[in-house]
Amino acid sequence: MAEANFKPIKKTSVEKMEVKPNLDLEESYKDFDWESLYKQLDWLPGGGLNKAHEAIDRHANGDKRDKIAMIWEGKNGEREDYTFGDMQRLTNKFANILQSLGIQKGDRVFIFMDRLPELYIAFFGALKAGAVVGPLFSAFGPEPVRDRMQDSGAKVLVTQPDLRRKIAEIIPELFDLQHILIVNKDSRDPAPIDPQDLSYHEEMDKASEDFTTVVTGQYDYSIMHYTSGTTGKPKGAVHRHQAVVQQMATGRWALDLHDDDIYWCTADPGWVTGTSYGMLAPWTNGVTQLIYEGGFSASRWYEQIQKHKVTVWYTAPTAIRMLMKAGEEVPTRFDLSSLRYMCSVGEPLNPEAVVWGDDVFGMPFHDNWWQTETGAIMCANYPSMEVRPGSMGKPIPGVQLAIVDEDFNEVPDGEDGNLVVKPGWPSMFHGYWNNAEMYNSRFRKGWYITGDTARKDSDGYFWFVGRADDVINTAGHLVGPFEVESALIEHPAVAEAGVIGKPDEIAMEIVKAFVSLKDGYEESTKLRNEIMRFAREKLSTAIAPREIDFIPSLPKTRSGKIMRRLLKARELGLPEGDTSTLEDD
Ligand code: PRX
Repeated sequence: MAEANFKPIKKTSVEKMEVKPNLDLEESYKDFDWESLYKQLDWLPGGGLNKAHEAIDRHANGDKRDKIAMIWEGKNGEREDYTFGDMQRLTNKFANILQSLGIQKGDRVFIFMDRLPELYIAFFGALKAGAVVGPLFSAFGPEPVRDRMQDSGAKVLVTQPDLRRKIAEIIPELFDLQHILIVNKDSRDPAPIDPQDLSYHEEMDKASEDFTTVVTGQYDYSIMHYTSGTTGKPKGAVHRHQAVVQQMATGRWALDLHDDDIYWCTADPGWVTGTSYGMLAPWTNGVTQLIYEGGFSASRWYEQIQKHKVTVWYTAPTAIRMLMKAGEEVPTRFDLSSLRYMCSVGEPLNPEAVVWGDDVFGMPFHDNWWQTETGAIMCANYPSMEVRPGSMGKPIPGVQLAIVDEDFNEVPDGEDGNLVVKPGWPSMFHGYWNNAEMYNSRFRKGWYITGDTARKDSDGYFWFVGRADDVINTAGHLVGPFEVESALIEHPAVAEAGVIGKPDEIAMEIVKAFVSLKDGYEESTKLRNEIMRFAREKLSTAIAPREIDFIPSLPKTRSGKIMRRLLKARELGLPEGDTSTLEDD
């Protein structure tokens, strides 16, 4: 992001705040030690650690028992409130269901649901039962669900009737799957459930409210999120229970969560932000959060803030750009005076958007940076520091970031290089499921390689530059080109496919595909639309290409790899760079 022409925003939000920021940056770097934070966790009797205990039971067993944990607003305007005590009771019941189904510590339980309260209940119930939970984005089509469930060997799937129907064709291919639990919220779906499935509601009615959390240790696995790389299918990044310490701490430091906040994270739990910050950070801090089931609309989002008196808001650049596009008049129709702190993550946040936030809401968006693999925020614009529009801020205490060259030597301030992290932060992922080789390839010469390029200025602020690989970031969702290419070549007309990210004003990048056709097929708009629909049904609208171009053949290296870099350079009219490995036609 360019620094030019944007003046720093002088701690505006802090001056307006009545509450003191949670982190005095300079002070915090002195003699920092995670030990003191680990001591703030409750821990299980006997010394175990379980995220569900830290997020729910510790409050339900204490003076926050009757405090609202979750305000849920459904897509049709329904409202339900759940206290920490309610969450304890319901997650205990769900844990009992899983135990009665034979689920044991370490078994994988996957959840494929819209943002319904039952998703959150199943999630924490599964953690209490000692399972490793994998939440899946409900917009996924059958293929991404099959890949993730097969790879993880999930034994239980918790889903809802319409989504069960969407993926019906791949269920017989899930050889490890033993049980499907169906949540038919408020009997929204009229069809009877399949006799081989279990009704979540019937099972919950029968289950006991008492449950003793399975003893997990800080190093035991708790959550897995699949994330995309340049090569191969998405990989399951596995996190341990101890990640909770960093999720709790960064909830205070970077999101400035305080006891009386009403917090809203707009991310879906199918992606890591929706679990680390849409579940764990607020609840480990005992903070009330809003879960809104509905999708994006500028007026409905502002209405949520007004209606629920949201004080802290964590969202993403694409959404902010869409709000900017909707215009400055829309927010004037709502009382947004409850808002006191706003954050953003997932993609580069343009300096214009930070300044726009300051103009329209009287406070800037505080950008922060992290990844599925890091498990929690690593770099942030804190309340206590000057916001430099376009910068992702400074590392959190206890985390060392650096910018290095190809030999892993640190480059001078102001120069671009690879962004790396010193391993050992508490929320660090602990493997890609079934893929030790890929995991090991992310660590070299004592650093974890993020795959991003960035630079650091002389005051220690970090600035995102780009991705060092072919992974596409569309509306904050990482998309691996290989996954899309694999789906496209399943279409009978497609011989080969190459997929790139094409710059876009709103979504940052859109997925663009180049396909060559098999003999006997003619290029036509009809065929293009058909391939596009085919990909959307298989993958999801979030991942499928938004543009498809036909080309006679794809540029490949002599070893047969598609040269996506060249496709991109040609698309953008940029120099083609080194093409010496290009195969001759
Ligand atoms: O490329 C960076 C971009 O999103 C990637 C991580 O995506 P994911 O694993 O899906 O994690 C989402 C949780 C944040 C990063 O490698 N990214 C994330 N935050 C920023 C960002 N790019 C620029 N600025 C950010 N603040």
